[in-house]
Amino acid sequence: MEQRNPISYVHYSGFARKPNDHYATPDWVTEALLRHVRLRGPVWEPCCGTGAMAEVLSGNGYTVVASDLHDYGYGMPGVDIFACHAMAGECQSLVTNPPYGDTGSHKTQDRSPTAMLDFVRHTLSLAEGVDGQVALLVRFQWIAGKRAASLLSSTPFVATVVLTKRIRWFDMGERTNTGQHHHAWIVFDYQRARGIPPSLYFAE
Ligand SMILES: C[S@@+](CC[C@H](N)C(=O)[O-])C[C@H]1O[C@@H](n2cnc3c(N)ncnc32)[C@H](O)[C@@H]1O
Repeated sequence: MEQRNPISYVHYSGFARKPNDHYATPDWVTEALLRHVRLRGPVWEPCCGTGAMAEVLSGNGYTVVASDLHDYGYGMPGVDIFACHAMAGECQSLVTNPPYGDTGSHKTQDRSPTAMLDFVRHTLSLAEGVDGQVALLVRFQWIAGKRAASLLSSTPFVATVVLTKRIRWFDMGERTNTGQHHHAWIVFDYQRARGIPPSLYFAE
């Protein structure tokens, strides 16, 4: 029997942002995605943290379901995406910055390329059930890995939005360093038109 997703409500946001959520994804990163990709809503942000991405999505008119494994005072805490077997609520797309990057504050997380592959596979399995979309922020370098390339080639991969500006994960005023890595959005769509190669966009 199909296991039901623990999230059954739509739109969960509106909490105040923490003043020092320095690990949050800067707004311009999500705005860059939205300039090039039209999502079908509602949108699920399953690793919402303090809601940085969720807020930009709802600010752009999307209804957003926000959840996270941990409690940051935003969205629904205690939801492990790997324990979910269906999209949240009525969501048609899933957008997040997976917990396997270089955002610095999650020191114990598994940052291996394999963990990211598992995350991509799992989120795609969720989206497939609704012919939905997935947009994930990854290190640009990750895409070039053999296993990532092989996975992307066998999925409904429709676009990459390469960020030509590097992300600053910590805001330390004038002492802020530019991040070491370039990042990109990888976008999948189960309603893609067949035979059309993935699009490549550049954004900052
Ligand atoms: C890199 S942070 C991104 C936060 C937010 N999306 C942003 O961009 O500002 C990754 C988030 O994933 C959450 N996370 C880690 N493992 C998770 C899991 N198994 N299920 C759901 N969320 C998870 C962490 O608690 C953290 O908030």
